[in-house]
Amino acid sequence: MSSSPSRLVIAIDGPAASGKSSVARALGRALGFAYVNTGAMYRAATWLVLHHRVDPHDEAAVAGTLEAAEIRCGLDWRHHSTVLMDGVDPEPFLRDAAINDNVSAVSTVARVREILVRAQRAFAEEHDLVMEGRDIGSAVFPRTPYKFYIDASPEIRAQRRAAQGEGDSVATRDKIDSTRRTSPLVIAEDAHVIDSSRLTIEGVVGEIIGRLRLKGFPLPKTIPLGREER
Ligand code: DC
Repeated sequence: MSSSPSRLVIAIDGPAASGKSSVARALGRALGFAYVNTGAMYRAATWLVLHHRVDPHDEAAVAGTLEAAEIRCGLDWRHHSTVLMDGVDPEPFLRDAAINDNVSAVSTVARVREILVRAQRAFAEEHDLVMEGRDIGSAVFPRTPYKFYIDASPEIRAQRRAAQGEGDSVATRDKIDSTRRTSPLVIAEDAHVIDSSRLTIEGVVGEIIGRLRLKGFPLPKTIPLGREER
């Protein structure tokens, strides 16, 4: 599967709790594009590993678990990505503390990334996409001209996480995600960086749309910028 997408791909990367998921969802809806949450794919892989009682730090066992699994990716009625692991939808468990605590370890395994990146690229064979993650602009679709990196101050990110009712240490996860060998969280050279600390979701989406317009992106005539339903 090629890193040159057949369709239009808007890559949105950034650290945990930077606001990138809300922004990517709202942007996908505004443009009528599919929304692919690659973090959910790494979380689903982590769910599978824990479900099989495999040690998330045992790289060979983690790789073997993913290799043996039937992974089916698709889109739901909202055009949001879905993932089935051996026929099971692990969605209700993806924000569990055990997943938060182990997802960075599972994500460092190169073979896991290979398997999931292939599935991520397959989405762009059939759909125009907004795809969010850590390595979308740098590794999954390095050739897309539409790359954004959403950041926010550590204090604001911790506040946003707490407001979501989650107490995981985003700082620990960011450290592992940024220092791993394979496809670490980096700002792609040609990414447009947006600090969302003092912006609303609509504000960030508006900035992205302005930037897309400057780059000659084929925007629809009218863009609904309302809030995304959850
Ligand atoms: O976006 P999120 O917090 O749901 O992502 C969960 C974890 O998945 C994150 O800590 C690192 C990993 N991840 C990754 O390695 N590469 C991606 N493209 C997306 C997420």
